[in-house]
Amino acid sequence: MKQSFDAAEHDDVDLYKLLIGLVVPRPIGWIGSRSADGVRNLAPFSFFNAVAASPPTVVFSTIRPHGHHKDTLANVTATGVFTVNIVTEEVIDAMNVTSGAYESEVDEFEVSGLTPVNGSVVDAPMVAESKANFECRLSQIVPIGEDGPMAASIVIGEILAVHVDEVILDGTRIDQAALKAVGRMGGPLYTRTRDLFSLDRPS
Ligand SMILES: Cc1cc2nc3c(=O)[nH]c(=O)nc-3n(C[C@H](O)[C@H](O)[C@H](O)COP(=O)(O)O)c2cc1C
Repeated sequence: MKQSFDAAEHDDVDLYKLLIGLVVPRPIGWIGSRSADGVRNLAPFSFFNAVAASPPTVVFSTIRPHGHHKDTLANVTATGVFTVNIVTEEVIDAMNVTSGAYESEVDEFEVSGLTPVNGSVVDAPMVAESKANFECRLSQIVPIGEDGPMAASIVIGEILAVHVDEVILDGTRIDQAALKAVGRMGGPLYTRTRDLFSLDRPS
């Protein structure tokens, strides 16, 4: 038997918990940006995905509680560029460190000990320790919801350049076992991607 939850009758937090517990595993977009004053910023977002291939496009969404813009949103709005850094087993602890609620003046690369590398086509920092990075130009910001605790802004960006560590590269294809991507589940849970299996598509 299924229990039903009418979205109109449940508070934002309950609906959020249902959503993030059910839409799993979620990839993590580790977003590098720079403020208008030049301060580097790095933060993870699991409301993240690749959504189009031509032009190659990613989205991520930042919660905008009571109108407060997280640093990432403020930076991308100001500069129009950002990077996406792929989260794998090797960098999961550093990723977690960068999710802290630091002041805008704080550079999360310094806090986490990660190495910043400036983009080659956009002025935003990439994580050297990530096995792959995208350099992105802002396409559009779409506001979602009114200014409550869970209002959000969806950031849509076009990928201008891709950097891939040769250890995970097989020609222009990615060796999924070597990648060791990590996904986010509900609450504090994460998942590794070691249990791979293959499925042929119907002809
Ligand atoms: C794995 C993970 C995923 C997260 N996903 C999101 C998300 O999708 N949207 C969001 O607003 N915050 C998310 N957060 C919280 C942000 O990372 C956190 O608020 C961070 O401090 C924002 O940094 P900023 O102010 O430098 O942009 C996530 C945190 C973790 C650890």
